[in-house]
Amino acid sequence: TGMVTIDPGYKNTGSCESAVTFLDGEKGILRYRGYSIEELAEKADFLEVAYLLIFGELPNKAQLQKFHNDIKEESQVDEEMKKILDGFPKSAHPMGVLSSLTSALVAFNPTSVDVSSETAMYNSIVRILAKFPVLVAWTLRKKKGLPLDYGDDSLGYVENIHKMMFKRPNQEYKKDPIAIDALDKLLILHADHEQNCSTSTVRIVGSSHAGLFASLSAGISALWGPLHGGANQAVLEMLEAIEADGGDTKKYMAKAKDKDDPFRLMGFGHRVYKNFDPRAKIIKKAADDVLGNLGIQDPILDIAKGLEKEALEDSYFVDRKLYPNVDFYSGIIYRALGIPTEMFTVMFALGRLPGWIAQWREMRLRKEPIGRPRQVYIGENLRSFVPLEKR
Ligand code: CMC
Repeated sequence: TGMVTIDPGYKNTGSCESAVTFLDGEKGILRYRGYSIEELAEKADFLEVAYLLIFGELPNKAQLQKFHNDIKEESQVDEEMKKILDGFPKSAHPMGVLSSLTSALVAFNPTSVDVSSETAMYNSIVRILAKFPVLVAWTLRKKKGLPLDYGDDSLGYVENIHKMMFKRPNQEYKKDPIAIDALDKLLILHADHEQNCSTSTVRIVGSSHAGLFASLSAGISALWGPLHGGANQAVLEMLEAIEADGGDTKKYMAKAKDKDDPFRLMGFGHRVYKNFDPRAKIIKKAADDVLGNLGIQDPILDIAKGLEKEALEDSYFVDRKLYPNVDFYSGIIYRALGIPTEMFTVMFALGRLPGWIAQWREMRLRKEPIGRPRQVYIGENLRSFVPLEKR
């Protein structure tokens, strides 16, 4: 069978060639299709970034308008989907609900599996970019016990997401530029990150020629875990626990360094960044701005800054090159926007959607083979079957 080398966690294995996202972990550089994350976060909006990631170039006005119109055309979700949502208890974790609903969408949009032509592929992409925010909003409204709401075609893509999430029954929807701006920025910062765990999952599921929606549903499950997207929820729960414990950051630093204690400083460290995560820098500033603009004083922000300062001066973290990652400050902004902690990873999924789509599309267009790693067998040698009565 030839020689197989094992690389647990694929720490040193490239799975594909890709033209979507450039990442230099030593220098802390992140670019989508050649544009720096700093510039995109400042100047672009999320829908433009989605187009850029998926199709490779920034859209001109007409292209962007057509893209947005096509999305609006597809923004209805089958009424029957509400029955599936109803079947979940209110206590269900929103990530489980979201991955189930995404996979259920296949049943109502069977043509989403068809990628035989660029047009069929485009239609599936537009369909999911239209329907996914509805599912996200429904998941949040279910958590909050609010009636389900549909969007408003006169609004921008992110504005509309905000409306679907937050519109109160019997009240006019009020645009909230500070919240929408913050949301836009957070979604852009999460939009792609090359071959991370969930993206690799989307690619490997898609490599069997399962459809886009099914591949995305698998990606959502991968994102759920606390070592990946679930870290944003875990960070906030950690900060709350430290606050409830009297704000003793030193105690938690000691726990994080203790190899007999499973506790890790959530929101710190990264497989690829051995320097500041450039997204964390932008998010830290955004957290300051958003809280300032909304007039919120959150003691948890101070705890986060205290922890960061201590970690950056501590030899354990310095030696291992552990820096704050994208998830360290994002939850503080989500919290200020009124998003429940359990929904944080859903917000990450909403942001990552264009990246997953872009990587899946690239994989299909390049006609990549099915993903099928090998192993080194370490089990029993051949032995004889023992009948039940003799065991
Ligand atoms: N707190 C304490 N020690 C840590 C931490 C941490 N957060 N992260 C890594 N270490 C230590 C680890 O114990 C190991 O020490 P030693 O060499 O003495 O055994 C060393 O640093 C290297 O860590 P690793 O686990 O081998 O590194 P990895 O590349 O396999 O894991 C990681 C990367 C992100 C899973 C990990 O740093 C971690 O668990 N961080 C906390 C969870 C988190 O914030 N995840 C979000 C990642 S960024 C966004 C995303 O992907 O969603």
